[in-house]
Amino acid sequence: MVTRPDFQVMGPLPDEAFAALRADIEAHGVQVPIARTRDGRIVDGHNRARIAEELGIECPALTVDVDDQAATEMALRLNLLRRHLGPIAWADAFRRLAEVRGLRIGSQGRQAKKTDSVAVFPERPADLASLAVELGVAPRTARRRLRLADKLADHPEIAARVDRGEIDAGKAEELVRRENFDRRRAEAPPPPKVTVGDGIEVCCGDFREVLADLPDHSVDAIVTDPPYDNAGVPLYSDLSAFAARVLKPGRLCAAYCGKVDFPEQLGRLGEHLRYVWTGAVFLPGRHTENRARMVRGRWHPIAIFSAGRYVPRHWLIDAIAAEGNGAKAPADHRWQKSVEPLVRWVEQVSEPGELVVDPFCGSGTTGLACRVTGRRFLGCDVDPASVSLTLERLRDAEREGEDSA
Ligand SMILES: C[S@@+](CC[C@H](N)C(=O)[O-])C[C@H]1O[C@@H](n2cnc3c(N)ncnc32)[C@H](O)[C@@H]1O
Repeated sequence: MVTRPDFQVMGPLPDEAFAALRADIEAHGVQVPIARTRDGRIVDGHNRARIAEELGIECPALTVDVDDQAATEMALRLNLLRRHLGPIAWADAFRRLAEVRGLRIGSQGRQAKKTDSVAVFPERPADLASLAVELGVAPRTARRRLRLADKLADHPEIAARVDRGEIDAGKAEELVRRENFDRRRAEAPPPPKVTVGDGIEVCCGDFREVLADLPDHSVDAIVTDPPYDNAGVPLYSDLSAFAARVLKPGRLCAAYCGKVDFPEQLGRLGEHLRYVWTGAVFLPGRHTENRARMVRGRWHPIAIFSAGRYVPRHWLIDAIAAEGNGAKAPADHRWQKSVEPLVRWVEQVSEPGELVVDPFCGSGTTGLACRVTGRRFLGCDVDPASVSLTLERLRDAEREGEDSA
């Protein structure tokens, strides 16, 4: 009797599916023979064999004359083809089948380095795409499942909920982001001020307090993204007063705004600053949704104000498109923005070596933009978890910079 099926490559069948299989076998017997190696180990049909044994009925079997690697490949392939796997279990089996076949897939598992883009299929992409097609799955779907599995690698309970069909990918990512943030919140808060690399500093606290000692007229540009929900509207007045004090005369404050409270945000920014222009970041292929007004938004307004009379230094392009197809980048912060548009805004409102401040830095996207464009950066956020995320992203970028130097 076989007691240790060596090629059981998948987890157990869900209870419901097992009960259905059992009822079917009870009624009709085992209709699809199981497959065993010459030495009797089951390659395919563990559940059928177990049920037949429990029922005391015959279990037809075929012998496959293959080595262990081929048996593993066969078991994985059959499961991928036949079993109703959730996306995460599918991705796991797909990855293992690719490995058995000697194809390499980039993995962003638990300890993998975090980057802003997830590299899946970095090598021999044609082979991996063909493997997906061989299994009856579009390469794009395979890629999406692999990415999702990567993101959920540290969150097995959320992954199991996806596989059970209880939540979709979007909800799963939202839960992961929240769990990660809760983990950060449970950690010791970051120090009030941290220097990350050359000319890059991050402060933890309310910008009205922790940046109060920033000297007058010492800042070349402010590029920021305040909270633009209704409760955040008064902060635009404080930002206006802060910017008017710290900016060098004639320099710019570029602030992401919301659309619902845009007029009031503009009014408040104008309390101490002068209106210059309204810029835009297009978000191709994706949208925010305002159900009450039934509007799907595809751009973000950027209010541009100057400290005193604006002194243009060069031409500004006022609309910038987020690159690619607009697919949302993997986000760790609820309000995380894409890096590329911020790179463009930082480039437009400052010069290399100048000091750019973001008093509402969130996950530090403006800081990343300053780093790649050679600006000095001072960021601040009142939320310690956001600051710790900012520090992690900036430090990762520093390390990547050192590695590629
Ligand atoms: C829209 S988010 C910024 C997102 C950021 N652009 C990114 O890409 O991650 C606004 C941030 O402002 C922070 N914030 C709110 N009030 C603040 C205050 N008084 N001082 C400093 N930060 C504040 C919030 O904690 C939040 O992280």
